[in-house]
Amino acid sequence: MCGIVGYIGDREAQPILLTGLKRLEYRGYDSSGIAVISPKKNSISVRKSPGKINALERLLKNKPLSGFVGIAHTRWATHGAPTRTNAHPHADCKGEIALVHNGIIENFEPLKAQLIKEGHTFRSQTDTEVIVHLIEKFYKNIPLEKAVCSALKMLVGSFAIGVISSREPAKLVGARSGSPLILGLGKNENFIASDAPAVLESTKDIVFLDENEVAILTKNNFRVTDLNGKSILKKSVRINWDIAKVQKSGFAHFMLKEINEQPQILENLMHSRVDRKTNRITFEEQDIPEGKLKNIKNIFIVACGTAYHAGLAGKYILESVCAIPAQIDVSSEFRYRDLLIGPDTLVMAISQSGETADTLAGVREAKKRGSSVISICNVLGSTLTRESDGIIYTHAGPEIGVASTKAYTAQLLALYLFAFYLARIRNILPPAKIRKYLLDLRRIPKQQELILKEQNNIARLSRKHSHLGSFLYLGRGINYPSALEGALKLKEVSYIPAEGYAAGEMKHGPIALIDEYRAVVCIAPTSKVYEKMVSNIQEIRSRHGKIIAIASCGDQEVSELTREVIYIPQVDELFSPLLVALPLQLIAYHIATKRGCDVDQPRNLAKSVTVE
Ligand code: AGP
Repeated sequence: MCGIVGYIGDREAQPILLTGLKRLEYRGYDSSGIAVISPKKNSISVRKSPGKINALERLLKNKPLSGFVGIAHTRWATHGAPTRTNAHPHADCKGEIALVHNGIIENFEPLKAQLIKEGHTFRSQTDTEVIVHLIEKFYKNIPLEKAVCSALKMLVGSFAIGVISSREPAKLVGARSGSPLILGLGKNENFIASDAPAVLESTKDIVFLDENEVAILTKNNFRVTDLNGKSILKKSVRINWDIAKVQKSGFAHFMLKEINEQPQILENLMHSRVDRKTNRITFEEQDIPEGKLKNIKNIFIVACGTAYHAGLAGKYILESVCAIPAQIDVSSEFRYRDLLIGPDTLVMAISQSGETADTLAGVREAKKRGSSVISICNVLGSTLTRESDGIIYTHAGPEIGVASTKAYTAQLLALYLFAFYLARIRNILPPAKIRKYLLDLRRIPKQQELILKEQNNIARLSRKHSHLGSFLYLGRGINYPSALEGALKLKEVSYIPAEGYAAGEMKHGPIALIDEYRAVVCIAPTSKVYEKMVSNIQEIRSRHGKIIAIASCGDQEVSELTREVIYIPQVDELFSPLLVALPLQLIAYHIATKRGCDVDQPRNLAKSVTVE
């Protein structure tokens, strides 16, 4: 959701802040703005614009900002329309303080009413503006950070903020509670940002702020305190993300680049997680003792969106490989349920960003009930990883496209490896069987490459169907989650209504929809439910549905039922979701681009959903 960047240093702030904002575009936004302290006038100047960052850039071309300290923001509207006035930064009555905010202030209405009574003038409809007026109220003969702390203590909700003041032009203040904020440490310059890609061009030394921490940055220094001003010792970590990973590197879109990165990511993961000689699986941050994992009675998975679909496949994987009961819920349901979990339950939270508000709330509920929590997460140091007992990093690199692709297959791989790890410590599978599975898994990257070689074919087939008004995705068993994920991908990037269904449910309703105007994507690789899928395809065919099938190489039956078949290499059914995902992602991508949609930043979507 909203993106924050702040800079203090020797260089001109404007270009650095704009680059940072562009690196945060993936988070989703509908307006942007920037504020810089002018050293000549010792005053703050603000530029804001609705729409994309290039609109802000055009504005800055005509009215540039010069100065070495500034904050910038991409806003994803919650309270108040995406207008220039509602865009951040927001200023206090006198224009001495500027503030950017990510999150939601739940008690902004009574605070606003009180501040208006006290004489403050509000200009926007946002919840955010109360924060800057609160800071103004407390900012009397005390340092900026103290006023910030007093203001933050009044807030209910979630926030990450960046603040500058023309009264203290050599200072940048950041704080967080519920929404992410990192510090970037450079030479003669320091940064704040919502996420590391915003500062990667300048530094890889990152400090992750924790809940209710306040950072005070000068160009040569930084310190962190709690809301009472008590110092907190923080260590920086060096992240090894490559700048090329946050650029398109010749691909038309990040989504296409990230789809194509999958074989390499899985190859690297297999290499780093599984010892080739001994087949021992290791997860460096997985701190839950083996003894504890040995005795858990059941597993509960929580996640949202694509991560939920990976988790649903995980349920099938864990039950079949480890013979352990596994349940799954979307996080927004899990957090409000009467949960029947306790110390015997292992809760697995899956999240690319590690900042999804509902998933974090679910994890906190689980911990209250004494369950151990393992998170499968892509973002190093994210809130989820800091609140979990054990972590399995997916190491997929920064995922910039809003539609999750490479993080999904990396989550699946993490689930397979965790299942084999658990099966070993619980003595469920003989070593020879685990060895055989790992051999199959090692072949997956090469098999994915074979699918990617057929991209032109998949593009042709997808474009041919791009005019259709709705899509149905059908799968069975471990590919039922694939059907859900295929449908989610298509609707996210092309805005075409799409539904995913367990194929066995077709006769219980969705079959009524089948006609020549609807495409039905049938996922039918070799499996124990293959013949059942073939029967479903026959039923669709006799109702004139437009069938696109995903089948295993060498398949005869399906190719007789439809001319539109995408073939994937033969693989153990258990691992087929890792292959099926690629054509599904490519179908969504090519249909969306054919329809002229903005695949990397689809309308209304945010990359990480940091509010409820
Ligand atoms: C995926 O394409 C989506 N944009 C979305 O469903 C996403 O998977 C979901 O919001 C969960 O995000 P997380 O993995 O960062 O928790």
